[in-house]
Amino acid sequence: MAHLFNRNVLLGVTGGIAAYKSAELIRQLQERGARVRVIMTGAAQEFITPLTLQALSGNPVHTDLLDAEAEQGMGHIELARWADLLVVAPATADLLARLVAGRADDLLTTVALATPSPILLAPAMNQQMWRDPATSRNVATLLERGMKMIGPAEGLQACGDIGPGRMEEPATIAEAAEALFESGILSGKRVLITAGPTREALDPVRYISNHSSGKMGYALARAAAEAGARTILVSGPVRLDTPEHVERVAVNSAQEMLEACMARLTDCDIFIGCAAVADYRPAEWQSEKIKKSDQEMTLRLVRNPDIVASVAAAEPRPFTVGFAAETNNVIEHAREKLLRKRLDMIIANDVSDERIGFNSDFNAATVLWPEGEQALPQASKENLARQIIALVAGQLPVVN
Ligand code: C5P
Repeated sequence: MAHLFNRNVLLGVTGGIAAYKSAELIRQLQERGARVRVIMTGAAQEFITPLTLQALSGNPVHTDLLDAEAEQGMGHIELARWADLLVVAPATADLLARLVAGRADDLLTTVALATPSPILLAPAMNQQMWRDPATSRNVATLLERGMKMIGPAEGLQACGDIGPGRMEEPATIAEAAEALFESGILSGKRVLITAGPTREALDPVRYISNHSSGKMGYALARAAAEAGARTILVSGPVRLDTPEHVERVAVNSAQEMLEACMARLTDCDIFIGCAAVADYRPAEWQSEKIKKSDQEMTLRLVRNPDIVASVAAAEPRPFTVGFAAETNNVIEHAREKLLRKRLDMIIANDVSDERIGFNSDFNAATVLWPEGEQALPQASKENLARQIIALVAGQLPVVN
């Protein structure tokens, strides 16, 4: 499987002669499954036009920090959050120095400061500039801060010199990017995930439901599959494509969701209950459309089964993960739910924050397990899902 599948790669291009190779790098990243957006510095635009990189990446190229129109489209903070990886190729001596200084006086350096994601640098410069102690120190500092570096390669340079300083070949840079995501942390595991809302039918045309988009559950399924797990997604009705390498089982009601899950529990290693299951269903289902008559109408509802708690009560049971959407005392309520439902892990969301949650592409959460917890700051649901999968993998019981 391409390890950059579905990854958002932000490519920073700075002003060096190797900038022309960035065009090929975009293709190489895309061939490995990445979505690519490009930031160019002013100097980079002297070597290659934004139009070329826009055509290849299929997205407008970002060039300015203080362009109100561009900021309205995708601002610098959104870009920084969008990126699962920032690759700077070529990275000039000047860019390295500015990263060391923590400058934020253009779009690329600002995004580099603002992104929580890994940064991969492909330096390119004259061999003497590369060997200069100032550059060596800058490189050491950036590596110490956790940035990754690929190259430079040795050979004939555009200036006629021979030595280290050539940008690595695009395919090698793309491979290095790919290697950062190699995970396989759930290989051989079977994962069952519920997602989306449930629909509780009143009659042939009406139902009770909720606004769950299913995005978080689908992102988790994608992340689990990427981590090498055999993944089944039991999904209520949503408008989302099934992620690659994921088996989807479509259901409507909570009862159907419960049955679909229980029938697939054998051999299941991990269960993640992400669905917004309706707590109640109509006590009776009318086979004919209900006619309006009186000014008032009373609906009698009965409790639905708690799916995640039923899974946690099964014997043997998988490692069971639930969600807790709360509006106040988020952590306290989540920990109470962790115990009451006998879960192994719970992911707590503050749903009073309108910028994240239900229909948003972003989310923030605190993951709790019996002996610990970890806050995951706001990120794309895709990014958050990968972090959750990594935490789940870390908490799995060790089997000898
Ligand atoms: O109790 P509450 O609805 O807040 O719990 C949320 C968690 O329980 C989520 O993981 C949700 O998927 C799961 N749940 C369930 N079946 C229900 C209600 C909630 O699996 N009937």
